[in-house]
Amino acid sequence: MVEIHVVVLAAGKGTRMKSQVPKVLHRISGFSLIDRVLRTAEAMAPASITLVVGHGADEVRESLVGPAKAGHHIDADVASTFRRTLQFVVQEQQLGTGHALLQARPILEGKTGVVVLLSGDVPLLTSNTLRSLIETHTQCEAAATVVTANMPRPFGYGRIVRTNGRISKIVEERDASPAQKKITEINSGIYAFDLAPLFGALDSIGTANNQGEYYLPDLVAIYRKQKHTVATWTVERAEQIRGINSRTELAEVSAMVRQQKNEELMAAGVTLIDPATTYVDRDVVVGADTVIHPCVFLEGSTKIGAACEIHAGSRIVNSTLGDRVCVRNHTVVTDSTVESGAFLGPFAHIRPGSQVGEDAHIGNFVELKKTAMGKGAKANHLAYLGDSTIGAATNIGAGTITCNYDGEKKHQTTIGEKVFVGSNTTLVAPITLADGAYIAAGSTITKDVPPGALGVGRARQENKEGWREKRRQKSSA
Ligand code: UD1
Ligand code: CA
Repeated sequence: MVEIHVVVLAAGKGTRMKSQVPKVLHRISGFSLIDRVLRTAEAMAPASITLVVGHGADEVRESLVGPAKAGHHIDADVASTFRRTLQFVVQEQQLGTGHALLQARPILEGKTGVVVLLSGDVPLLTSNTLRSLIETHTQCEAAATVVTANMPRPFGYGRIVRTNGRISKIVEERDASPAQKKITEINSGIYAFDLAPLFGALDSIGTANNQGEYYLPDLVAIYRKQKHTVATWTVERAEQIRGINSRTELAEVSAMVRQQKNEELMAAGVTLIDPATTYVDRDVVVGADTVIHPCVFLEGSTKIGAACEIHAGSRIVNSTLGDRVCVRNHTVVTDSTVESGAFLGPFAHIRPGSQVGEDAHIGNFVELKKTAMGKGAKANHLAYLGDSTIGAATNIGAGTITCNYDGEKKHQTTIGEKVFVGSNTTLVAPITLADGAYIAAGSTITKDVPPGALGVGRARQENKEGWREKRRQKSSA
């Protein structure tokens, strides 16, 4: 087997994105463009992967090999996959794609085999296509093999110019004659190169073009002049080699990715009321007979069980839901676990580190943070439950607040099983309400409550008989 070395070009600024963020860090369904390209590369088990970075080099490197930034958990995940083989080279000035590949010379010189060149901004390429590319390249004993596609609207891409059916050169849009602009076979920017002649030939690329850049596609004409074989491999589905250069293309490709994921879900028995407004990240798993309503976002490593119902406007991030869970409208769940048969929302906020037990109910305007709700426990309305453990079958009344923060530290609230917490109770942590405790409504509880005891922490009510009439007489006097 021939040795494969992958080089990914990701140094460009992405001027057309009009962004402070390096182009390859823009995301499609939760994953950066570069993350997607690297996963495809990794699937070929290459001997090495070299990433050419430049614009935003540190940011790109950090997104892939950490340190993991808050909110960038997915890339941190990827880091562990790629850390073994990924090497970075910096292209200080972005002088063109030919110049970019030259930066990999110190790493690849002296090695043999095939260089597979990928573009950091072509995220939908499949590893099957790459396998076919390598196969064609090896069979033709080519010095270079270009992946091409036929696009009815080829605007912006390099065009494949053929003489007597064989590729003779590639012309960029900006340099193309009106006749060449009509060519619909385009350059994907993905190639296989035989390593032996590669770097020598790259040295002879010039800058005589509209942008004054070193164009990698010029290698085709150079090789043809040197009588080297140049082959092509044409993909059937042109969508998979679409490059992303603008926000419009980002949105279009995102829509394609989303549609594909949605079709997979439906094929697996999930009902999507409106696939056009269902947003599910690549690695999300959903069980059969689950119904997903419009405008639902399922993100990151989320797993949803069977026969759940996820209502409109909900967002579930890196969380696991059991079977038959009902998530009512506009509920947000992050980094949490919800067991089978539970009800959430509408308008519930389940923050990181929470566990909602089997058949538990979390109602409207209830916020949980690092809180475990036991089996069948209920907090049906208007509550903040933070840093707390709540036992099975306990009822948390409307307006209950755990006062978990004293301005310096967070404190724990422990509530046993079958506890009844009356409405509008404040629980000043650290505090423990033992099994079967009963808290009078409107209490401020600052001392632990023993098992089965009633805790009352409020001013006694006083009724003044005839007060209203007395006041009336006073004011008319
Ligand atoms: C390139 C090809 C074009 C092809 C298209 C396919 C060239 C000159 N043209 O055009 O024939 O149809 O891709 O998508 O190659 N990059 C660097 N350093 C640089 C310049 C670019 O690393 O100095 C990287 C970019 O970050 C990007 C990739 O190379 O990931 C392609 O560059 P881009 O400017 O997007 O090229 P296109 O104009 O799309
Ligand atoms: Ca591009």
